[in-house]
Amino acid sequence: MSIETRRRPDAAPRTARSAPSWAARAEAVSKVYGSGETRVTALDGVDAGFVRGELTAVMGPSGSGKSTLMQCVAGLDRVSAGRVWIGEQELTGLSERALTELRRDRVGFVFQAFNLLPTLNARENITLPADLAGRQLDAEWVEQVVDTLGLRPRLAHRPGELSGGQQQRVACARALVGRPELILADEPTGNLDSRSAGEVLGLLRRSVDDLGQTIALITHDPTAAAHADRVLFLLDGRVVTELRSPSAAEVLETMAGLESGAAAPGPAAGRPDRTSPAGADEVARTARRLHDQLGVFIAEVEALTGDHASGRSGAGQ
Ligand SMILES: Nc1ncnc2c1ncn2[C@@H]1O[C@H](COP(=O)(O)OP(=O)(O)OP(=O)(O)O)[C@@H](O)[C@H]1O
Ligand SMILES: [Mg+2]
Repeated sequence: MSIETRRRPDAAPRTARSAPSWAARAEAVSKVYGSGETRVTALDGVDAGFVRGELTAVMGPSGSGKSTLMQCVAGLDRVSAGRVWIGEQELTGLSERALTELRRDRVGFVFQAFNLLPTLNARENITLPADLAGRQLDAEWVEQVVDTLGLRPRLAHRPGELSGGQQQRVACARALVGRPELILADEPTGNLDSRSAGEVLGLLRRSVDDLGQTIALITHDPTAAAHADRVLFLLDGRVVTELRSPSAAEVLETMAGLESGAAAPGPAAGRPDRTSPAGADEVARTARRLHDQLGVFIAEVEALTGDHASGRSGAGQ
């Protein structure tokens, strides 16, 4: 699972395909937040696609629109202009309910904050989205994912009893078990030490190579991006260049070029909240995220956590 093992001789040459099969794509997408003085153009006519069965990394300076692109592609946020598809399904114009169902059934998420419910154990967290949707998971597949991610000895542990790397592997397992058409991972290694990060990246890579998963990986880390089949570089809300199966050094060089031309990143003013996941309102915050992703009511999540654990809010952290 080390970084060195990832570049299998047969992994790279997918360039020859003339018409890529898109797991998801955005066409001329713009996203504007706010108005007047607070108006921010987060995406500015971006074209981007995620090829089925590939790991695509998305890089770019802070504020370049990476997370916004992911939110729009996943239907978590509405575009201001342009069109978005998951597979053949166009998202533009879908009702909230249809979007929620599409996210729940066809997209998996992994965030920098692990978004695990502290009152559930690892296994319960992994199956939570399916449990809430009343969907039957392929039991054999679940066990395979658990083993591939090395989680078997930890299944009965709650997040508070797991290391950061183990928690993120649980979050990856939760995304993988539903066999989504696309996994969107937004800085999944941002809170991890380099060893745990290497493990998580290795398993994302293997889930593409061995399980046929399609993954979009947002990252600031050139080493992480070097795991990808393709790297898209965003600047000021547009894809400005891309590299195929690059080395970390090539990614670094391209980023340096972008950042020297970009406005100084400055403080993280106006950026989405990215505080530590730990805290007394962990359940409420995680429930809110799950609500957004899966369309379940917060009360349902709380009822479920109540079924599994006596002390509910804030427990376990
Ligand atoms: N909900 C929001 N309301 C207002 N502005 C927003 C919102 N979300 C993002 N933005 C702004 O849109 C721009 C793009 O933000 P985005 O979070 O997509 O950047 P990013 O590339 O993911 O950055 P980072 O690497 O720091 O995570 C930024 O200027 C940001 O301040
Ligand atoms: Mg971001």
